[in-house]
Amino acid sequence: MSCTIIVGGFFGDEGKGKIVAHVAHKDKPSIISRGGVGPNAGHTVQVGEKEYGVRMIPSGFVFPEAKLCIGSGVLVNPEVFKSEVDMVGVGDRIFVDGRCSIIEEEHILQDKANEHLSKTIGSTGTGCGPANVARVNRVAKQAKDIPELKPYLADVAFEINEALARGENVLLEGTQGFGISLYFGTYPFVTSKDTSASQIAADNGVGPTMIDDVIVVFKAYPTRVGEGPFGTEMTRDESHELGIQEFGTVTRRERRIGVWDGKMARYSAMINGCTIAAITGIDHVDPECFGATEYEQLTPKALEFIKQAEEDIGVPVKLISTGPEMTQIIDIRDRK
Ligand code: IMP
Ligand code: MG
Repeated sequence: MSCTIIVGGFFGDEGKGKIVAHVAHKDKPSIISRGGVGPNAGHTVQVGEKEYGVRMIPSGFVFPEAKLCIGSGVLVNPEVFKSEVDMVGVGDRIFVDGRCSIIEEEHILQDKANEHLSKTIGSTGTGCGPANVARVNRVAKQAKDIPELKPYLADVAFEINEALARGENVLLEGTQGFGISLYFGTYPFVTSKDTSASQIAADNGVGPTMIDDVIVVFKAYPTRVGEGPFGTEMTRDESHELGIQEFGTVTRRERRIGVWDGKMARYSAMINGCTIAAITGIDHVDPECFGATEYEQLTPKALEFIKQAEEDIGVPVKLISTGPEMTQIIDIRDRK
């Protein structure tokens, strides 16, 4: 049996969705369950010509054989959930823990109307912060109180632990990134919950002793959306000159772009208990690597970058994403 957590090592949008999709197809988990804050997270997964953007259901939905779950720690917006379930057609294999807290219209209105949240912090306006306030105040509704969610309810924590006891593989998806963790990030410019691997395990009711691997995903050129410090940020012009321009999946805001931050990578790997590092966007380091699927295809420039990253992180880089499509990846997890 093997339980793997995948989390973001920088400020979110590292390409976790794509890494999840690849690892799922390779490791064939019986359950893919998400933790993290809620529908403030956007995941983009590209399979063949088709690009999917989801923010409520696990990005592992692209692997058709797994049961999909949302752990009890996650905030659920029932409307977003239902529309995504219908859009990707996973109604017969998706489950929501009855204890998930619900985002209501009033939370979204509060998030958008609150100057501190919407302007100073630059929240996504999806109601997550105010919904977590309601949860902590113990006035929030739970998934089990919502008739439209009835067909999907499950004890996700129990399902996962049972699957692990049967010797099956389970994949736990994190959302957001280390730098916007409420506990370890650039407070107050952070999201409304911890985003580290321990939190993702807790969100799903999986004890620390059950975790075998923590894959931390780092972007060769990290990005940040919203306000807050970004130590290695470059100017818009510099990033455009490098041919990098990105927009948020949820808010469509243009992402701020930076260069590799070795110090942050090391700290993030430490707190996350990283056992395997993944690097995305290596094709921005050297466009010649675009689409490569074998380690031997990497250029000296890319290899030099990876060597430096490994020194910084202190853990081997065993997954290297070379383009947006799910199969554009080098996976050397089997190598010593
Ligand atoms: P909130 O999570 O909507 O309250 O937003 C708080 C901060 O976290 C803002 O700077 C958002 O841009 C950022 N944020 C929240 N979720 C994500 C994510 O999934 N990726 C990147 N940034 C995020
Ligand atoms: Mg995202």
